[in-house]
Amino acid sequence: MAKILLFTDPGIDDSISIMYAILHPDLELVGIVTGYGSVKKEQATQNAAYLLQLAGKTDIPIIGGAQGPLSGEAVPYYPEIHGPEGMGPIRPPENLKVNLLNYDEIFKIIDLYANDLIIVSIGRLTELAIAFIIGGDQMKKVKSFYVMGGAFLVPGNVTAMAEANIHGDPIAAELVIEKAKPLTLLPLNVTNQAIVTPELAEYIAKNSDSQFAPLIKPIYQYYYDAYKKNVPGIPGAPFHDVLAISAIINPSIVEYFYRRVRIILDGVAKGQTIADFRPKPDSEPVETIDAIAMKLDYDLFIQDFMNIMTRQVGA
Ligand code: BDR
Ligand code: CA
Repeated sequence: MAKILLFTDPGIDDSISIMYAILHPDLELVGIVTGYGSVKKEQATQNAAYLLQLAGKTDIPIIGGAQGPLSGEAVPYYPEIHGPEGMGPIRPPENLKVNLLNYDEIFKIIDLYANDLIIVSIGRLTELAIAFIIGGDQMKKVKSFYVMGGAFLVPGNVTAMAEANIHGDPIAAELVIEKAKPLTLLPLNVTNQAIVTPELAEYIAKNSDSQFAPLIKPIYQYYYDAYKKNVPGIPGAPFHDVLAISAIINPSIVEYFYRRVRIILDGVAKGQTIADFRPKPDSEPVETIDAIAMKLDYDLFIQDFMNIMTRQVGA
């Protein structure tokens, strides 16, 4: 059973990722760290708490992450993609109570599951960077890191050059990429292909017996409508963040290149991720090399996704 601590900013594909993690029989979600990104931290927290409540999983701790990037710059939000409250038309109940835990709970979880814990980051990387700043060597107890972020030799999504999670806090991203080992990166190269079509979403909504079933269609529709505006002709909506979790359990779902990753910190290319993909790249110290997913096995992704999303909680 893979134990995961999820750093997230729900967000529509983040919300689906939380559902996927809860429904997956081989995954144990041992904690959620909520931060700013697609929506404000407070909203991200409410959304995560609502999903846990629906699933009857209020025992999973929620820990408060960051309000903004390390640079101190103002945060741009993306209501046009995720909705003003982050889950499209779905709103958590007003009276939802959240027992938000302090940041140091992260280190308690790392200690508790020492050498067995996988950290997955599917939002901005600020809170994970802070964990390295505060935790130092304690972070070596983490078994591995999976990060959704970056775009290599392909266009970005928030700017021509940059993907949203890296662009949102490139300083934090650089720090995480330098310190998190072993690190697997799931960039737009593969996550843009992780497309769920309206027919598949419809199938899940009809065939799911889980408490999440009523949410699937409305949030999918909102997300797909947003993508159709940005990418005319797109056949469905890309569930970027799900792939970062799915790759843990299904290693052959993507093919990797092993390279050093660098990040542009400022200017017109802020947040761009760069690696040397020449057949004979410059040699780099082995400790700087990360796994970059560059090719997706789409059939495997969809098979697994459909199978998990039509399960029941705890089945
Ligand atoms: C990333 O940005 C957000 O919109 C998604 O949730 C994902 O984490 C994709 O660039
Ligand atoms: Ca996200």
